[in-house]
Amino acid sequence: MTDKPRIVVSTGAGISAESGIKTFRDADGLWENYPVMDVASADGFARNPALVHQFYNERRAALGKAMPNKAHLLLKELEDRFDVFVITQNVDDLHERAGSSNILHLHGELTKVRALDDDSLTFKLGYNEATTPETVIDGHRVRPHIVFFQEAVPMFEPAVELAATADIFVIIGTSLVVYPAAALLNYVKAGTPIYYIDPAPSRVPAGVTVIRKPATEGMEELARLLLEKYPEKD
Ligand code: APR
Repeated sequence: MTDKPRIVVSTGAGISAESGIKTFRDADGLWENYPVMDVASADGFARNPALVHQFYNERRAALGKAMPNKAHLLLKELEDRFDVFVITQNVDDLHERAGSSNILHLHGELTKVRALDDDSLTFKLGYNEATTPETVIDGHRVRPHIVFFQEAVPMFEPAVELAATADIFVIIGTSLVVYPAAALLNYVKAGTPIYYIDPAPSRVPAGVTVIRKPATEGMEELARLLLEKYPEKD
C-alpha cells in the first residue's frame, strides 16, 4: 500500500478512438457494419456462432494494427505520482500496451478466448489468430472472452470495490449509457472529485467536472491540473 493519492479511472471506447478504433454509439447501432445484437449478444452468439467468431477475429486483427495513444500513455505516466487503477469497458489491450500496472476489464478481452465448458479457463491469442466454433484448444471448444449483452458482468463487484477506494475518480470516453458500468461513479466516497473527459458527453451527472475535449488533449489538461493540485511530497 503506497501513500500516493489513488486515482481510479473508468474508460470507454472514446479513449481508443484516437488510436483508430471506432466507438459504438456514433455508428447508428452498427459495430463495424454489423448489427450490434448479431455480434455482441448472447442470442446472437446462439443464433450464429460462426459469425461471432469471425467478427472478433476481424476486431483482433485490426487491434494488432492499432497503437496506444497519448491518453493511454499519460495514464501510465501518472503512476509516478499516483496509485492509478484503470477500469475499462474496452476489450482492446491498449492500456496494457501503454504499460498501465492495474487494469480491470469489465466487458472482457479481445486477445483472449475461453473454454465453453469452463468460464475460468482462458487462452491468449495472437492478433492474427482466428477461431471458429470448431476450434479446440487443450481439448476445449472456445468462445470469445467477451461479455455479451444479456450476460452478467462478473467483474462489476471488484470494480465497485475499487471505485470506493478512489481519492480521485476519472471518466474518459464513455457515453455512460451501458449499465452496470455507467453506475460506477455512484460508488465513490462522498466528496471525491470526479472528472469526465469527453468531447460530446451524452449526459453530465451532477457534481462532475467535465473536460469537453478528446481524450489526448483532455488527459494533458487533467494531468497538469492533478500534478499542480497534488504536488510531489518531498
Ligand atoms: N476522446 C474521448 N471521448 C471520445 C472521443 C475521443 N477522441 N471520441 C468519442 N468520444 C466519446 C463519445 O462522445 C462517447 O461519449 O466516447 C464515448 C463513446 O461512447 P460509446 O460509443 O457508447 O462507447 P462506450 O461508452 O464505451 O460503450 C459502452 O457498450 O457496446 C457496448 O460493451 C460495449 O463497452 C461497450 C459499452
